Amino acid sequence: MSLLPKHKLAELADRHDLYQRSVQNTETEIDFILETWNGLRRRPAELLREDFCGTANTACEWVRRDPGHFAIGIDLDREVLQWGQQHNVSHLSSEEQHRLELINGNVLDDLQERSDIVLAMNFSYFLFRTRNELREYFSSVHAGLAKDGMFFLDAYGGYDAPRELEETRDCDDFVYIWNQAEFNPIDSCMICHIHFEFADGSRMDKAFSYYWRLWTLPEIREILLEAGFRRADVYWEGTDEGTEEGNGEYQSREIGEADAGWVCYIVAQT
Ligand SMILES: C[S@@+](CC[C@H](N)C(=O)[O-])C[C@H]1O[C@@H](n2cnc3c(N)ncnc32)[C@H](O)[C@@H]1O
Repeated sequence: MSLLPKHKLAELADRHDLYQRSVQNTETEIDFILETWNGLRRRPAELLREDFCGTANTACEWVRRDPGHFAIGIDLDREVLQWGQQHNVSHLSSEEQHRLELINGNVLDDLQERSDIVLAMNFSYFLFRTRNELREYFSSVHAGLAKDGMFFLDAYGGYDAPRELEETRDCDDFVYIWNQAEFNPIDSCMICHIHFEFADGSRMDKAFSYYWRLWTLPEIREILLEAGFRRADVYWEGTDEGTEEGNGEYQSREIGEADAGWVCYIVAQT
């Protein structure tokens, strides 16, 4: 009898589970959204639409937070929605599940319902690679928001962003690998992959791949205004004085640091 395990850890792992555990932090994301909304509006936000929702992890966190919260998640990929339904939505109470709707569709589709908040997180909108495509998406978000609605996006950049490189980060029982495989300086488009590596040396290569444009903050803000938003503010992360690392606190700022790598939020108001 062989004592060697039959299966490599990579074969036993689930890519959506690994993604959620390594890339997302839905609690801090919803904390930021609520704090920002409550600081700028006198009424509570009710309906949140999560564009490019994938496993709908953030939409689930929204409905869990408050019995007055409703959410819509939209994604083109039926398989990822089914995974989200099975692993995230099914863990909500039946009352919470009634306040959540998943739509297998395109974020460009016109929805009847007007949302208080629309989210486009983890740079998903970078897949629109021309100004016209991005403006069309931002215009459809604008049209889908309430009169006092807000659009929350994130963005990344820094002098390492347009480079071909691999970065690793230790997660509990696996290593997350971010691979900027190809960058074309002529159109600013790039191919990136997420790989995962396990303690037995096995790997899940190209668990996720992206072909997108590395947009700059001034471009994104200009296009948001062209699409009809009244303002588009950048929320930049503060620095912990002890470690010189980001402190997880995001404030509206006009001047940021020229770091190697940064992630920020953009909040656009109708
Ligand atoms: C980067 S992943 C989602 C990330 C997730 N929003 C998060 O915060 O981690 C991008 C998702 O967008 C979906 N997608 C791509 N184009 C889309 C479109 N036009 N409309 C709706 N979903 C789309 C893909 O199926 C994929 O699940």
